[in-house]
Amino acid sequence: MSVRRLHAEQPESFAFNAENAAWARTVIARYPAGRQASAVIPLLWRGQEQEGWVTKPMIEAIADMLGMAYIRVLEVATFYTMFQLSPVGKKAHIQVCGTTPCQLRGAEELIAICKSRIAPHAHELDADGSFSWEEVECLGACVNAPMVQVFKDTYEDLTPESFEALIDGFAAGNPPTPGPQNGRQYAAPEGGENTLLDAALYDGSAIGLHRAYAREEPKPEEKKPA
Ligand code: FES
Repeated sequence: MSVRRLHAEQPESFAFNAENAAWARTVIARYPAGRQASAVIPLLWRGQEQEGWVTKPMIEAIADMLGMAYIRVLEVATFYTMFQLSPVGKKAHIQVCGTTPCQLRGAEELIAICKSRIAPHAHELDADGSFSWEEVECLGACVNAPMVQVFKDTYEDLTPESFEALIDGFAAGNPPTPGPQNGRQYAAPEGGENTLLDAALYDGSAIGLHRAYAREEPKPEEKKPA
C-alpha cells in the first residue's frame, strides 16, 4: 500500500452544507462532554460523501468542531483507506483488496483490468473522471475472495468476467447488487449448506440424546486417577 498523504492541490475552504451541519451537531451531541473526538470518523465520512474526498480544509474544520488538534484528525484520515485523500471517480472509486487470500483467488487479474480500463496507476482518474481505483489491504471478506469495495458497498466472489460486468454496471448507472457475484448467499458454502444437516439438531431430539449420554458419563469424583 502506498504512503497516504494529502493531495498536492487543495480547495480554499470547507463547510458542511446545512443538512450535514445539522446532522453533525446531532452526532456530536451523542457523546458526553470531553468525548466529542469520538465523532471524528462519522464526520470525516459525511464530509467525504459531500465533497467526494477528504481535503485539508475539511480536516481542519472538523478538528475545530470537535476541539481536536489538526494533527489528530490528520492521523485518522491518513490511517484508514476508507478516506480518500485525492479526487476520485464520480461514478466509482474501486478499492481492490490485494491481501493474500484475495491475491491467491485472482486479485491480480482484477487489478490488471483496472489498469487497462480505468488508469495505469492507482489514484489516477480515467479520461472523463468517472472512475478511479486503488489496491487496499484486507477488507474483511476473505471468505468471499476476491472482492472489491466501491464507496460503501462490497462486491465479492468476483471473476474477471463479473468484475468487467460490475464496471459496466457502474458506467451505465446501474451497478449490480452488492455482495457475492456468483449467486452464493453471503458467506454460506457455495452450492448450499453441507454441515449441520441432521434434522435431530433442530427438533429437540439431539438434546435428549445429549442428556442420555451425559447420564452415562461417570461423575468427576467417580473417575479413577490414571
Ligand atoms: S484478503 Fe481480501 S478481504 Fe481479506
